[in-house]
Amino acid sequence: MNEEEILLAQKEFIFPSVFHYFKEPLVISHAKDQYVWDAAGNRYLDFFGGIVTVSVGHCNETVNARIHAQLDTLQHVSTVFANQPQVALAKRLAQITPNRALTKSFFTNSGTEANETAIVAARCYTGASEIIALRHSYHGRSSAMMAMTGQSTWKMGGVPLPGFVHAHNAYCYRCPFGMTYPKCGVACAKDLEEVIRTTTSGRIAGFIAEPIQGVGGFITPPQEYFPIVAGIVRKFGGVFFSDEVQTAWGRTGGKWFGIEHWDVQPDIITGAKGLGNGTPIGVTIARAEVADGMKGVTISTFGGNPVATTAAAAVLDYIEENHLRVNTAEVGAYLREQLLDLQRKHAIIGDVRGMGLLQALELVRDRETKEPAGDETNQILEAAKDARILLGKGGLYGNCLRISPPMNIAKSDVDNFIAALDEAITRVTVPAAALG
Ligand SMILES: Cc1ncc(COP(=O)(O)O)c(C=O)c1O
Repeated sequence: MNEEEILLAQKEFIFPSVFHYFKEPLVISHAKDQYVWDAAGNRYLDFFGGIVTVSVGHCNETVNARIHAQLDTLQHVSTVFANQPQVALAKRLAQITPNRALTKSFFTNSGTEANETAIVAARCYTGASEIIALRHSYHGRSSAMMAMTGQSTWKMGGVPLPGFVHAHNAYCYRCPFGMTYPKCGVACAKDLEEVIRTTTSGRIAGFIAEPIQGVGGFITPPQEYFPIVAGIVRKFGGVFFSDEVQTAWGRTGGKWFGIEHWDVQPDIITGAKGLGNGTPIGVTIARAEVADGMKGVTISTFGGNPVATTAAAAVLDYIEENHLRVNTAEVGAYLREQLLDLQRKHAIIGDVRGMGLLQALELVRDRETKEPAGDETNQILEAAKDARILLGKGGLYGNCLRISPPMNIAKSDVDNFIAALDEAITRVTVPAAALG
């Protein structure tokens, strides 16, 4: 099919709720390492990585060689048969969880399913049902995960499921209490106790948070937030889940998991996206007693699929052997400096935040009023596409640019990206006359 036929077929045969960036959807034909090509043959520097998923570069040869070999050995058995790739990956994951305390895994195909499994595990283990999530969170697209998500944009069809309440996140740039950190005393974290006492039965199954809120626009809490919250959650008998669908596998720099930056011990971690570098996989990793609390039986046809678990093991090996957690910290710090330089130059950049190679810009019309620059964000995305770079969008107001390149990029890639982004922002925000 040519480009036009693809776009026509998309319109006719795909659900219209499948949305795209850009006025004309970008048709991608192939990809390699940090680049993707469109149907017309134009090359783009990909600083979004298929929504924080291409962790070790597109079509990574080392990872793909192992996938190819596994495809010809054993492609599928389902969770009702034991197989070596599945248990080998589970064993490997047990060795890298914080303090090696989360030792049992259940594999699925996506972040949504990983979180669904986590909720069931917490409910079985605690005997309680209510879950606390955060405002501005995103946890998936099933009906329960839409109920758990904290953004109206992603709750299509209404929220008919009870059992979820939403506490304050630490959105310091737009503090829900109108306060300023650190004078606020991290009031948002302390408020959780009031939330539990006034909006639940007082017996909770657990609390779920993304260490850095991904779809929310890489909202990054201050150091005290999670330790305070974790203490309150445990006081009320709940388990602490870290939704690491975007933040795991070294993405935040240095550590395997985002939550490790806050020195909080989770009971359950969920992961997906970057674990497979594009091969569908989701995982729920729990403390043994939490996993053992799931009495009864469960099944996932594709969960623990030998090809997907082989891909994941190959990704973890690649990250380890190429020191990508270190590279992510170093190149991420370099990227952050360049973004701060751009903020000094462009008034539209209200906030720069994130960790490692998970960085975002929040765009505003006025730095005093912080009026979200939603239309301008769309225009900058278009201009960035014309400048041959790809980045993502996020935030409740659709005014955040999300940057999450593969973890094996170099500083020279950052230089190329920043030059193109600078050009794109200038094209949208500086009147043409002023450019001469
Ligand atoms: C933090 C987080 N959790 C869960 C999900 C859902 O993952 P999936 O789209 O693989 O179902 C996402 C997806 O963006 C996510 O960012």
